[in-house]
Amino acid sequence: MLVSATEMLKKAKAGHYAVGQFNINNLEWTKSILLTAQELNSPVILGVSEGAGKYMGGYHAVVGMVNGLLQDLNITVPVALHLDHGSFEGCYKCIEAGFSSIMFDGSHYAIDENVAKTTELVKAAHDKGLSIEAEVGSIGGEEDGVVGMGECADPNECKAIADLGIDFLAAGIGNIHGKYPENWKGLSFETLDAVQQKTGDMPLVLHGGTGIPADMIKKAISLGVAKINVNTECQLAFAAATRKYVEEGKDLQGKGFDPRKLLAPGAEAIKATVKEKMELFGSVGQA
Ligand code: 13P
Repeated sequence: MLVSATEMLKKAKAGHYAVGQFNINNLEWTKSILLTAQELNSPVILGVSEGAGKYMGGYHAVVGMVNGLLQDLNITVPVALHLDHGSFEGCYKCIEAGFSSIMFDGSHYAIDENVAKTTELVKAAHDKGLSIEAEVGSIGGEEDGVVGMGECADPNECKAIADLGIDFLAAGIGNIHGKYPENWKGLSFETLDAVQQKTGDMPLVLHGGTGIPADMIKKAISLGVAKINVNTECQLAFAAATRKYVEEGKDLQGKGFDPRKLLAPGAEAIKATVKEKMELFGSVGQA
């Protein structure tokens, strides 16, 4: 059964480790992540972007697939199904469809509007037992080939949003989605520390988990990060494994073109990536 992410992140924060949010795109992704979490006895959060939700057929299809896998694969570790960077409307759709957690990304609104919309969604999510994440300070990334630098959130704005009753907070600390550019300045631990000072026990979320050096990940966890999002790294691992399979001509040997064979190396590569991250984040054995 899906659970909200509130308890697992409170526990992570108290235990000084982080729970990984791994974004899903299809059945292979989801199955690989769930099996790895179960094998390592780790809690896990499945992230679904609005684009990935649409790709998989819609939010009901995602909920049906994930619930079915939990049952058929006998997954007993805590699993949350979380909308990643949700719009206001997207959040309502996921609450209705049966997600167990949502993120409202109001970072592009003026702070007053972010506050108003987050307040409304906190109530809607909590009424149905879901957890809710909010964002302050936009997290950069590649758009049209240009990689924007991540912003640093204003700690006072973080406090204003944290006080609305959200369960965990994504604060921009110079992190970005996708690959980091050569001239990236690294995470701003000064900002992270200031945000945590203002927000007390609030579990903090680190987006853009792909490509952040291990020592920075560990330091971020020591300063209050309890959830780390990873997406691109699983995609890169999946693509590389699939490419190798095709380049070696294995898709042309026997029944190598069968999707169950063709996609198997990618699924294994995702398992290896998730395992490596869970070990780094310290969530192994914490379920
Ligand atoms: P990456 O794609 O950089 O791993 O970031 C994932 C993320 O933060 C999803 O919200």
